This record gives sequence, structure tokens and C-alpha cells, in this order.
Amino acid sequence: MNDVVVDAGHRRLWLYSLENASDRGLAPAMPAVTADVHQPNSLGRKRFEAALQQLSGALPPPSIAPHPLANEEAYASALRDAWLAHPSLHPSGTGVGSERATRKQQQIESIVTLAALLADDFAAPRIVDFGGGSGALSLALAALLPRGAVTIIDVKKKSLAMAVERARAAGLANVATYEGDIFDFDSPFDVGVALHACGEASDLALLKCHAAGARFVVCPCCVGKVAVAGSERATRKRNNTTFNLTGENACRVAYPRSAAVAAVVGADAYGALAAAADFNEASQVEGPRGALRRLSKSWLEHDRLLAAREGGQCVTLTRLHPPSASPKNHVLFGWPAAAPPPPEVVRRLAAVADAADDADAALAQALGLGCAVCEAEDGEAAASRVTMDDALAASEWTADELADCAARLAAFAADEAAGDELSVPAHSARLRRLVHYAAERAGLLHWSEPKVAGARRTVRVARPD
Ligand SMILES: C[S@@+](CC[C@H](N)C(=O)[O-])C[C@H]1O[C@@H](n2cnc3c(N)ncnc32)[C@H](O)[C@@H]1O
Repeated sequence: MNDVVVDAGHRRLWLYSLENASDRGLAPAMPAVTADVHQPNSLGRKRFEAALQQLSGALPPPSIAPHPLANEEAYASALRDAWLAHPSLHPSGTGVGSERATRKQQQIESIVTLAALLADDFAAPRIVDFGGGSGALSLALAALLPRGAVTIIDVKKKSLAMAVERARAAGLANVATYEGDIFDFDSPFDVGVALHACGEASDLALLKCHAAGARFVVCPCCVGKVAVAGSERATRKRNNTTFNLTGENACRVAYPRSAAVAAVVGADAYGALAAAADFNEASQVEGPRGALRRLSKSWLEHDRLLAAREGGQCVTLTRLHPPSASPKNHVLFGWPAAAPPPPEVVRRLAAVADAADDADAALAQALGLGCAVCEAEDGEAAASRVTMDDALAASEWTADELADCAARLAAFAADEAAGDELSVPAHSARLRRLVHYAAERAGLLHWSEPKVAGARRTVRVARPD
């Protein structure tokens, strides 16, 4: 039996299993569309979902530890008191609303507590804030570590001027700025931080930390803006900051970041994962499909973690504390394996690593992702597990629609007298997808007619010969 990939819509590729495709006149007269070579697509599956499934089948799943702050309330509140002894440094001072200011405070605390621990053993730590903007994070660090020196890197002159003004108003004399591209920054430093440095800026920050042998705390965002060389998206998706800096849609960082992930997914599949993982609001990642988008982000951050490990760094993936501080809440922190912080600091930071009980990881299990690397389950557990297909179907069609369509196809399959083929009217792309989905699950052949752009289509199904 041959699998023939036929184009049937602008977003989806339908995989038809056609034994006698040419006999039926179904051999595609139209050009076949192939998915990414590493990513054979399957029925109704978006590219990012296929990529997720391939990663889950090939690699151990992302392990996301609780933020070490969860165990460090006394330490965190002492730092908070010291930081907010400068009330002008509170995010509300920048004029944002109170809810936003609270979340920004949580984001800053999540990063500064880790960075302060990592800087603890330096007499005069040199700290760099990559994509530091107007200094929300850097100024807190400068206040907490008066013996240290903080450099804010950003391309935006105006933001840096604001940071300088805020530092002056708070009486901080240990803040410097570097106006330019992270890519060009070349000075030595001890600890690098980045909070929501967009797209590749987070990777440039990680690369600079690696090159400098520095410790790091990075909370990435806007993963959809990364330009994946060789991917179809790279030509049309643009990171404005990179574009303005380089004058072109440059791919300056290699993606996937790790050899481990690159061995499983190609450029287009990675680009699809990055697009799915690009969300700004919690409301965008609700429901089953939203959960899969959150998982996509976890895999992208896990890829960064694997790359750091391949490069000889010790790295942990955690989330902001509390995770509701931002939908883009993954945080990577670590150090060169050959030059770790003092054992007491390592112990405090590692205290939570074994307690990885991330809700999204549990969800991945529930969706049947990651099973290839699980211990063999007993039959009952496997049977009761919701499959990814079920979850996706439930996110697209109502239970009644699924049941009606399945019943109709089952009746056709069981009734030889009903003829060889059945035409199922489905007047929207969503309903046609439903018929394709249900027919595939019922083991029936299925195709849309007519194959003419703009014509109203119907789905035909047939028993396999
Ligand atoms: C979303 S803002 C975050 C600002 C700050 N870290 C915060 O949390 O408030 C991202 C910043 O990164 C800067 N940025 C992005 N790419 C950069 C690059 N390649 N070099 C320097 N700055 C960059 C942008 O100009 C912007 O100010």
C-alpha cells in the first residue's frame, strides 16, 4: 500500500492511503505536496503537532523544575525588601497598571533571586543584562548588588536613556549602558541575565554567556521571531530588531539549537513549532490545542537546554515564580560545568531539580506524548489514556458531530448493499476535515471532490478493496 500526500487546503495536508489510487482516478493529477522531509504529516495534524509527536517519540520529554524560589521564601523576601528600599525602582514607577506592575515585579524577582545567588561569590560581580531596555531588571540587580557593576545592552537609545535617568534618580552609581547589538558585545563578564529578550536575542545572550564562561539566567520570549535557516518561514517571518540591525532577514543563530533535536526535526518542522509556541496572552493557550502550544514552547526551551549541555554547561529549565507572572515563563539558568558556583549555591539551586512535576509535562503524558520513552504500561492504563488524536478531535468538533459522523460511516461500512462509495455532504472545510478524520479512523478510503479551486466540495468515502 502506498501513502500518497495530496494537497487539500492551505493549512493542512491530508495523507491518503490509496491502494488503487490510479485505478480510481485518484492518483494526484495536481502536484504532490511533501511536508518537511523529517516530518511526514498525518491526517488532520498540523505541522507543529506532528513535530511534537516526533520529538516525544524520539527524546525524553522536557523536564521543568519548580523555581528554586519556591523553597526560598525568607531569602526572596529579604531581597525584595532591599530592592524596594528604592520605591522608584518598582515597575509601577514606569506608569504601567497595577496588575501588570505586579506581574513585572514577580518576573524581576524570579530572575534577580537566581542571579544574586549566582553572583554571590564574586567580590565585584560584572553583570550584563541583554536586551535590558529601560532597566526594569538591571536596576533591581544594581540595587541589590552595590559591590557589582551592571551593564545594560540594548539597541534602543531611548530605553537606555530612561534606564540611566532611573538609575540616577535612585542614586545607583553602578549602572552602565552599551548601545548596540548583543551580537557585537565582546567584553568579559561574570553573570548574564536576559528577561524577555525577543526571539534570537535570548540565544545571542546564551551564546555570549557561553563564550564568556559566565553564569546565566535567561527568560526567553517571542520564539516565533527566530529565523530558522532553510525553513520556508525564514523568508517571510521577520524579526524587526534583527532586520533593522542587519538590513536583512538574517538567520544569525542555528536552529534547532541542539544536535539532539536537529536529529529529529528539520527546519520547517522547527519553524512550525516556533510559530505555535509564540503566544502573548494566557487566553491563547487555553484548551487542548492551547496545551499543545505550551508544550511546543517547552520543547523549544528544552532544545536550548540540550544545546547548552552539549556545549559543556550545567543548565536547569524552570519557570517564573509564580508561573502566572507571564505566559512566557520558561527560565534557563546555569553555569559552565567546569567552573560551577560554590557547592552551597549549587545545592540550593538544585534542591528542586528532582521535584520536576510540571503540569504541562503531566498533560503531555495524558495526551500520549512521550510514551516511547515511558516504562511499559499495563494494558488497562494504556487503554484509559486519552490519545492525542482524541484531544485534537475534541478541540475541533463537538461530541455530537463526532458521534453522528462516526455512526453514519459505520452504517455505510457495515452495509454492503449501500454501494461501493458514499458521498458525504460537508459544506465547510471544518466539516470536511471531520469526515476525513472519521473515515480514516473507520479504516475507510476518503477523498474530496471536485479537485477544482473554488468549487463546492463533498467528501467521498469507500470501503478498502
Ligand atoms: C521585550 S523588551 C524587554 C526589555 C526588558 N528586558 C524588560 O524585561 O523590561 C526586549 C528588548 O530587547 C532589545 N533587543 C532585541 N534584540 C536585540 C539585539 N539583538 N541587540 C540588542 N538589543 C536587542 C529590544 O530593543 C528590547 O528593548
